[in-house]
Amino acid sequence: MTNVLVTGGAGYIGSHACKALRAAGYTPVTFDNLVTGWEDAVKFGPFEKGDLLDRARIDEVFAKYAPIAVMHFAALSQVGESMQVPGKYWRNNVVGSLNLIEAAVAADCHNFVFSSTCATYGDQDNVVLDENSAQHPINAYGASKRAIEDILRDFEASNGLNHVIFRYFNVAGADPEAEVGEHHQPETHLIPLMLDAIDGKRDALTIFGTDYETPDGTCIRDYVHVCDLVDAHVLGLKWLEKDKGSRVFNLGTGSGFSVREVIDHSRAVTNRAVPFNEGARRPGDCTKLVSGSTRAEQELGWTPTRSTLQTMIADAWKWHQTGHYDK
Ligand code: UFG
Repeated sequence: MTNVLVTGGAGYIGSHACKALRAAGYTPVTFDNLVTGWEDAVKFGPFEKGDLLDRARIDEVFAKYAPIAVMHFAALSQVGESMQVPGKYWRNNVVGSLNLIEAAVAADCHNFVFSSTCATYGDQDNVVLDENSAQHPINAYGASKRAIEDILRDFEASNGLNHVIFRYFNVAGADPEAEVGEHHQPETHLIPLMLDAIDGKRDALTIFGTDYETPDGTCIRDYVHVCDLVDAHVLGLKWLEKDKGSRVFNLGTGSGFSVREVIDHSRAVTNRAVPFNEGARRPGDCTKLVSGSTRAEQELGWTPTRSTLQTMIADAWKWHQTGHYDK
């Protein structure tokens, strides 16, 4: 079997990536410190507990498994928190990634897939973003991810580190078989918060701002199904194995949905009322983030199959009702 080191493999996106890698014939080796991840989510390959700030531990894992590639998901990802404690984000995300990149190069592992974000583009309201759009992040989370992109470029030049950078738009949904799903602690994302509100696990959802310059006044996002997203990662890995270059890909669908539209679809999918109220804007939110790129489809042959709002909410609802993790 061919080993792939998956940092953050116990997290939401990383655990789905492990399932996709396993299905594609790879062995995903999860490296995770379990600060935000769940050991119960590690189901598709070996687990190595470790922290990216511990370089010796990373070296040990490279020596043990000799992975042919790294998929790097591990990161802190709360935009609001990143503005309150930026040092935590720069240290964990940037220093941790630098350790990982240096360890990969030292171990002669030259294929690297990196989980980046549309938050690196910043607030370019009402612009459809493609990979050449300027990157002006407006929060420390996005800035930390952009810095890691820069580090990867430098290591490509100095050490031949081939890499694929995926800039995600809003990832949603869950494994349709509900083996893994979305579970953040604390939860800040729209769809899981709404599903909790629908079945009374928490109070009504608050819409953050109804006075944006959009048709219904609420923010617009480009939602992509987590299974489609991780399929792109497997294609990116195969591209690296074959083409040995470096490339940036946006992962979105080109369709934007407002918060009110997400609420309407959730009502239709679950056949339940959505308790919500209207509140103030959340600091740091952009009006509209939509990916206009088809690069991943054209160059990787990526074809999203589950990224309709209805399917994303239905899969998330199934996971919400049947799946769970315990610490
Ligand atoms: N929203 C609400 N109420 C809530 C939660 C969210 O109205 O209780 C709204 C937000 O204002 C936003 C939309 O729902 O308009 C989506 O919010 P999420 O928190 O689900 O997602 P974000 O767009 O804020 O964040 C996502 C990723 C981040 C990434 C960011 C890029 O979760 O990691 O996109 O902007 F950085």
